[in-house]
Amino acid sequence: MGAAAVLACHASVTIGRHLGNSPINVNWIHDMSAVFMEFKDISESTPNEVWQVERIAGHHYAAAADFALEHLKGSGKCLIAGSPLFELYELDTRYEITYVDFREPPLNGFRFVRADACAIPLEDESFDALSSTCLLCHIGLGRYGDPERLAGDQVALKEFWRVLKSGAVAAVTLGPVAEINQSQQVGSAHRVYTFDDARRIVEHAGFTMEASAVWDTRGERWRRRDERINIDPALFPDYLSMALRKD
Ligand SMILES: C[S@@+](CC[C@H](N)C(=O)[O-])C[C@H]1O[C@@H](n2cnc3c(N)ncnc32)[C@H](O)[C@@H]1O
Repeated sequence: MGAAAVLACHASVTIGRHLGNSPINVNWIHDMSAVFMEFKDISESTPNEVWQVERIAGHHYAAAADFALEHLKGSGKCLIAGSPLFELYELDTRYEITYVDFREPPLNGFRFVRADACAIPLEDESFDALSSTCLLCHIGLGRYGDPERLAGDQVALKEFWRVLKSGAVAAVTLGPVAEINQSQQVGSAHRVYTFDDARRIVEHAGFTMEASAVWDTRGERWRRRDERINIDPALFPDYLSMALRKD
């Protein structure tokens, strides 16, 4: 079966029903220096960025997929939002996968819903699990041709909460994390979270954080609990993964 793009909203969808409470205030610093060294233009738009079809050992995407495999051990329906494509193949051994992304992926054999993850055209409480890797740090910044939206990460988290069944777990790699005073928004490139802000926004969306892990990009390993996380997000960013339960 080829990837089927579902563009129309499902009749029974109630997008935004749980968005009554407005986003919490994250005091973003718009720090243009805190960009990865290889990312030359912080206002760059990359709608044609190459899709990650293969797992690359040691890469933070592989770490995020390992985290998802560790925390998503059930069965049933799993929504995957924006993740590298190999994550679908790996979770497909356990779940019936639906993939949502704003761009059209080179994908066969999976149900694909082309949509803005801030307005997912799928029913409430229709998934047993969810995985999302490195979507939240980008969503709403327009980098991938997606609509610019303030607090897009928080809106997407509330959509994740809405489509999950009660008791379901989400494995979410939010993106770069650093031990800095304030979370940073770096042009249209990405957000860099403080751990505390990341925790505040997932809890505000209604989730309980059951586990977290920080991937040390430079050392290609998970950081120990007693270890400081990266203090310089411009060099080698650490990546933050969280296991979230909808109670
Ligand atoms: C850093 S990439 C993740 C890896 C990428 N999917 C791949 O396979 O290479 C971020 C992904 O988020 C998607 N994305 C960005 N904004 C989005 C939005 N508003 N709604 C849905 N997907 C979005 C992008 O299209 C992109 O695929």
